[in-house]
Amino acid sequence: MDNTDKHAYYIALADKLAETRDLTDEEFLEVLLCDDKEFDSYLAQKARDVREKIYGKEVYLRGLVEFSNYCKNNCRYCGIRRDNRNAQRYRLSEEEIFQCSDMGYDLGFRTIVLQSGEDPYYTDERLVNIVRGIKERHPDCAVTLSIGEREKESYRKLFEAGADRYLLRHETANKEHYEYLHPAEMSFDHRMQCLQDLKDIGFQVGAGMMIGSPGQKTEHLVEDLRFLRKLQPEMVGIGPFIPHHDTEYAALPAGTVEMTLRLLSVIRLMLPEVLLPATTALGTIDPMGREKGILAGANVVMPNLSPSNVRGKYLLYDNKICTGDEAAECIRCMTARVASVGYEVVQKRGDHIKFAK
Ligand code: SAM
Ligand code: FES
Repeated sequence: MDNTDKHAYYIALADKLAETRDLTDEEFLEVLLCDDKEFDSYLAQKARDVREKIYGKEVYLRGLVEFSNYCKNNCRYCGIRRDNRNAQRYRLSEEEIFQCSDMGYDLGFRTIVLQSGEDPYYTDERLVNIVRGIKERHPDCAVTLSIGEREKESYRKLFEAGADRYLLRHETANKEHYEYLHPAEMSFDHRMQCLQDLKDIGFQVGAGMMIGSPGQKTEHLVEDLRFLRKLQPEMVGIGPFIPHHDTEYAALPAGTVEMTLRLLSVIRLMLPEVLLPATTALGTIDPMGREKGILAGANVVMPNLSPSNVRGKYLLYDNKICTGDEAAECIRCMTARVASVGYEVVQKRGDHIKFAK
């Protein structure tokens, strides 16, 4: 094929994806390997069109409270892994978490995301009290949990306490790759089971993966797409892998902005209604990463609501942005960034349209 034919071929693939929400594995692979720059702008334009048909120009805010960086897991890539003795550990009290959510509410957030390492201190009972407490104070707020793998009964209790959504990235849909990134004590099958349990219970569920994680092949990303298509999650969190200096992957390169943006567009076209954040990791590898993410099809941003004195300690990777900013400054900054690319941050819960009340 000469260059004109090649370009036409890729454009036809983008059109097919937009129309049918699917491609063959070989076609997905070609899309991900394509080196035609103009193809990316075409794909992003398609992704924006699809998103705007469903969610208009709205971008939803999630107030992120990183309430503990204790973790019993030892994921090889993560800066707060159990064996990182240099991480300064902290835990927020129930009262501190309520203060963060009150502040978030006053600033206009209508979703509070509670994220932590897998910290056994937070038993079902403690978590149920925290979720109930936030829902009692702010009944019009959605509560999202991102606290890792638990048993189905535990998930059920949290759902019954009022939690609306749950983020649990699958990390990679390839079992061998999963086992490469995680120690033997962690189980691919259990993570997958958790996602199914969360769906069955009725949560709005988020899966996702890092882009450019160690050992990742483009074929693995195709498997991720296939998996996401089958799971049909309400949210997909993707961001570049970024090395952390205290891990064995310290010297490896980060994932790229280009691949992350391309995948955001592909995911938007494959799952048109999905809630898709422009992540902090994307903003970390590129100062304009979040704006570019919105333009590639993302429709969610997650400014940090954690108290300033602990922000610098929730370090999954190096050079994380927004660790020194106050919540009010973060939301002002995000609002301006989103507006600068023609979109509008709104004060709404921002549920998946299947769950919209
Ligand atoms: N403990 C919970 C869990 O396992 O789902 C939530 C917190 S966990 C730290 C959140 C996400 O951070 C992970 O799912 C992973 O994809 C991402 N993450 C961890 N280390 C990273 C790194 N070095 N670069 C980019 N993302 C990373
Ligand atoms: Fe946090 Fe810009 S979004 S300071």
